[in-house]
Amino acid sequence: MLIGVLMIEKVDLLSKYYGCGYYNTRLPRILLSGCLTNEPNLFTLRLFARSRVKLQIFHEIHGGPQQMSGGSFNLVPKNVPKVDSKYRKIGTKIPVPESIPILDELRKYEPVSMTGQPPIVWDRAEGVSVFDKWGNKWLDWSSGVLVTNAGHGRREIVEAICEQAQHGLLHNYCFPSEIRARLAKRLVELSPPEHEKAFILTTGSEATECALKLARTHGRSVGGDRKIGMISFSNAFHGRTLGAQQMGGSPALKEWIVNTDPSIVQVDFPDGFRCKETSFDHFLGQMEGQGVTPDGICGVITETFQGGGASFAPVEYMQSLRNWCNDNNIVLICDEIQAAFGRTGTHFFGYQHYGIVPDLITLGKGISSSMPISAVVGRKDLLDQYPPGSMTSTHTGNPLCCAAALTSIDLIETEHLVSNAGRVGEVLQTELQNIMHDYKDIVGACHGKGLVAGLQVVEAGTESPDSQLALDVVQGCIEKGLLFFAPVGFGGGTVKIAPPLVITEEAVLEGIGVLRESIAEALAK
Ligand SMILES: Cc1ncc(COP(=O)(O)O)c(C=O)c1O
Repeated sequence: MLIGVLMIEKVDLLSKYYGCGYYNTRLPRILLSGCLTNEPNLFTLRLFARSRVKLQIFHEIHGGPQQMSGGSFNLVPKNVPKVDSKYRKIGTKIPVPESIPILDELRKYEPVSMTGQPPIVWDRAEGVSVFDKWGNKWLDWSSGVLVTNAGHGRREIVEAICEQAQHGLLHNYCFPSEIRARLAKRLVELSPPEHEKAFILTTGSEATECALKLARTHGRSVGGDRKIGMISFSNAFHGRTLGAQQMGGSPALKEWIVNTDPSIVQVDFPDGFRCKETSFDHFLGQMEGQGVTPDGICGVITETFQGGGASFAPVEYMQSLRNWCNDNNIVLICDEIQAAFGRTGTHFFGYQHYGIVPDLITLGKGISSSMPISAVVGRKDLLDQYPPGSMTSTHTGNPLCCAAALTSIDLIETEHLVSNAGRVGEVLQTELQNIMHDYKDIVGACHGKGLVAGLQVVEAGTESPDSQLALDVVQGCIEKGLLFFAPVGFGGGTVKIAPPLVITEEAVLEGIGVLRESIAEALAK
């Protein structure tokens, strides 16, 4: 159905919405009829629309990227069927009417950007369960945001934090402490021999910023001021601070920077879906196409799997990249902020699936299953480039955070959670492939390994992300007691699955049943 002809001022505005990926943002539900007509200062866009499209998309297009928001969940309490199973309990309207004042208060006092997640007011969380104050219980397939690898609210972690607090050291800046020494040693011992040092920080963005600085510093020392370029990948995400955001691969998220660093460039991520070309020659071709030569590059950074779709690069590609970096004295950085601590199953670190050793890795999220802590681990010569006092951070290795991290790592090891993620993950991945097979029209791709996966929801029969349908699926699951964070990835179309690594096969199968029901209901709307 042709519903209208819209005028837009700049064709590249549209490509920001449609042609390029952005993280956790929604796309107008449009199918482009073909091409854009190029007239001086005026471009005509023909829209074919699905029945649910409102003319509101006009405003979305005209409003500019700052108007774009994460998907909005239903905020009006709705009667939903009661659920009472081993892993889920829903006995109220959703959202819970009594929770609305809290949601309103958050909306009043916090920035709008904090409103993107399902309106469930978390009260406590334990193992694979999240509870509110009104008797509801969700089976958690989010791990917060891939944080609680050893499970939510582990008693051992709570005790370690309390013991450290009771002991009487809450903060020590960069002054030496025994507990920081223990964690740095532990991170190095978990790593291959090439990785001899660990620098402990607080957030993931801080770790990726640090990796950028280390690579750039190394580049200058081996190649002079010219060798400062960083290559990263389309649709990548490395954090929201200035350097981290520029290494990300979503143009819309970088608009606020305006004068982006021209030496930070992106090439396609070879996920086999958004980029069908997965050979390393494509990487070389794109470098050449952008006029980039190895003598101007200090580093390459990639998420071990791209968070947006849980997509891995081919093994041969990563091995070729490793060799190319070796040949050109370029630092290879794997951002393991989502991938480490057993998430991908079989291996403790995600990069081990590629049979390579990066020069630096960044860690965060699952490191402590709880407290804010991150790290950069890697080659001694890279981490030792700065003299005393010039590479520090106020909360580096906070003792409570170190206690949590050490205990979480212990739990991952003693409870064999890496192999559990491999074994139970195989069931999860198989079931998701079956879902993809049964719904091939609207699931464009389903990538993942171990206990992380991304169901890429698309407009029926196309490869265009369907953010509304993805949101409807998540909304339906929330109402049935299965918890996800809001859809992420290219066009906001990916339903991301990342339960705590303590999950059982039984709980995975229960969740799969709920997901299936929710997809069927969302499609029937
Ligand atoms: C791969 C990756 N790198 C970096 C970051 C940034 O971490 P943080 O939000 O802790 O700054 C994230 C967070 O989502 C991430 O997924």
